[in-house]
Amino acid sequence: ASDAAEHDLVIIGGGVAGYVAAIKAGQEGLKTACIEKRGTLGGTCLNVGCIPSKSLLNNSHLYHQILHDTKKRGIEVGDVKLNLAQMLKAKDQSVEGLTKGVEFLLKKNGVDYIKGAGSFVDANTVKVDLLDGGEQTIRGKNILIATGSEATPFPGLNIDEKRIITSTGALALQEVPKKMVVIGGGIIGLEMASVWSRLGAEVTVVEFLGQIGGPGMDAEIAKQAQKILAKQGIKFKTGTKVVKGDDSGALVSLSVEAAKGGKEETLDADVVLVAIGRRPYTEGLGLENVGIDKDDRGRLVIDQEYRTKVPHIRVVGDVTFGPMLAHKAEEEAVAVIEYIKKGHGHVNYAAIPSVMYTHPEVAWVGQNEAEIKASGVKYNVGTFPFSANSRAKTNLDTEGVVKFIADAETDRILGVHIIGPGAGEMIAEATLAIEYGASSEDVARTCHAHPTLSEAFKEAAMATYSKPIHF
Ligand code: FAD
Ligand code: NAI
Repeated sequence: ASDAAEHDLVIIGGGVAGYVAAIKAGQEGLKTACIEKRGTLGGTCLNVGCIPSKSLLNNSHLYHQILHDTKKRGIEVGDVKLNLAQMLKAKDQSVEGLTKGVEFLLKKNGVDYIKGAGSFVDANTVKVDLLDGGEQTIRGKNILIATGSEATPFPGLNIDEKRIITSTGALALQEVPKKMVVIGGGIIGLEMASVWSRLGAEVTVVEFLGQIGGPGMDAEIAKQAQKILAKQGIKFKTGTKVVKGDDSGALVSLSVEAAKGGKEETLDADVVLVAIGRRPYTEGLGLENVGIDKDDRGRLVIDQEYRTKVPHIRVVGDVTFGPMLAHKAEEEAVAVIEYIKKGHGHVNYAAIPSVMYTHPEVAWVGQNEAEIKASGVKYNVGTFPFSANSRAKTNLDTEGVVKFIADAETDRILGVHIIGPGAGEMIAEATLAIEYGASSEDVARTCHAHPTLSEAFKEAAMATYSKPIHF
């Protein structure tokens, strides 16, 4: 289409990867368009991921704490009631505020926001089926694919988002289910299990592996997490696989058996959450019209500068390699614009933190102990329990531990793994330390304010090469 508007950059997808790239491109003076088909910006993360889940996690935790954790603090509460509709509304309001804020930022940076589904016509041309009807063709010197990911379905179970749900349904249940079974004990499974268990559901998590937490979580920390979550009321069936499901009756019934094989058992549930991972999303994108490669897991294949084999078409975020995390997508989005504009950009994939927002939180960065062991590097471990930390004690919130792993020869920090209150904030210090190539002694000799939880962090660092003071 010769009349099509010519842009320096056309971005397909307005999730974290796409919208951050759009803002950065606008700041760099590139004439940019961002195409999003959802009707709102922010993608999975803002609409049906990070943000709504954290809203429900925070408020369900407050509710649960008011019910079960006030008396010993000298707070007597009376008639505590759940108003789920209001809790969901509070979540929706947070989401709406943030997605509108992103729309404002795009406008402020001169980005053309096009509401509709984009698909490749050729390597420089994208056709948009507009949400309002009609069609628009748009041309770009550069094109960025940021179409994200979707929940992996479970064969044989039909997702209706009411009785058999993904995380999207789990963020919008209109009543608390009596019985809920979660397939997959990864981050989504455990965060959503926490929410609904706190609100009163009887929750069972079925996990294929012997360990919960999904890929990356240190085994020792995962074990503690499972123990603590079990104490909170969540039931676990690890080393167990779901063989088949049947949703024809009043309850959904799942047949499960030991992963290694064995006797079948039936679990009944009002609601079944499928949380077995996410997969790259490229449906309707017209990739066949440009010939871009996917790997065996559906991820778009790129080089170090995020280029596909068509060099002016690049890819960032969940739809390509690496952890499916919002902050990873954001780092890549900035880097890819720097590559386009200046020819160089940078993301340190060895220093991307992970956080699970349960209570207590679990957070880590760098390698876990099993990975370090497998690499053959000699290492020292230093740990410090929150039960010996003064602030955790005064807060009556002492479950968990900080675990440092440092190179035995150089003391360079290889990994930090935390389960405990505020772990998600604390991990930023570990990430900075790894980014700067710090040794555990560098951290331990840095003064930390008293009384703070981060003293546990400092003392765990100390424990790798010496002895902690308070334990
Ligand atoms: P997405 O956010 O999926 O955005 C892609 C966008 O592209 C979508 O809006 C889609 O509509 C649009 N799109 C796709 N195809 C087209 C097309 N052809 N035309 C136009 N638009 C298109 N990560 C964290 O770091 N922290 C968390 O706490 C966290 N919590 C999560 C909780 C849940 C329940 C889930 C599901 C995910 C969570 N994540 C979290 C992961 C995080 O949401 C993703 O890593 C992040 O959203 C990836 O961003 P993205 O832009 O690559 O993809
Ligand atoms: P995941 O990959 O983290 O965990 C999936 C779990 O399901 C694994 O433990 C796996 O062993 C198990 N599993 C797979 N097939 C199974 C089966 N048939 N039966 C039983 N168990 C099975 O995936 P999840 O939790 O769905 O999350 C998807 C992505 O979203 C992750 O990459 C995660 O990083 C991201 N996310 C991040 C959050 C955060 O940062 N706080 C929150 C939620 C999601």
